[in-house]
Amino acid sequence: RALTGPASFVPDLQRRQLMNVVLVSTAAIPLFVALGAYLWYFVPPVATGVGGAQLCGDLDGTPIKYASWVKSHKSNDRELVQGLKGEPYYIISTEEGIKDFALLSVCTHLGCVVPWDKAKNKFCCPCHGSQYDENGKVVRGPAPLSLALAHTTTLNGNLALFPWTEKDFRTETDPWWN
Ligand code: FES
Repeated sequence: RALTGPASFVPDLQRRQLMNVVLVSTAAIPLFVALGAYLWYFVPPVATGVGGAQLCGDLDGTPIKYASWVKSHKSNDRELVQGLKGEPYYIISTEEGIKDFALLSVCTHLGCVVPWDKAKNKFCCPCHGSQYDENGKVVRGPAPLSLALAHTTTLNGNLALFPWTEKDFRTETDPWWN
């Protein structure tokens, strides 16, 4: 039996309201996506600075105070920190502080972490014998490439790294790690 009178309009009204909600939501989603992309682009994530700098962490991921790092290390010490993307980077100490570059400790042959051999003044890979000089330049294979570089800096007094995008100063070639 067909409904008559005002009651017959209720389903239509509900349908229209539903369509309005659907239309508004459909329009709102791209707006939120665009707004999100805008914010993502212009608002830097926490713990980053100029040039995408990212705080270094100790073994627990705790930020490292630059001043206490310098105080507790001797010139030519090389110690690992959690660096870009949480990967292990060597910070190299100098008389005055630290070098302006850090070295990713991952061997370019098959990815073993390469220890620093102070006596030989080289990084010597325990897996297949590759060697890198004190700046991480490969001097013995089978590793095909030098250790990846990152820039060192400070963020609010804490050690930080940012990506190395220019030429590799050791080989004058474009960086292979980008
Ligand atoms: Fe380092 Fe093979 S992984 S030499």
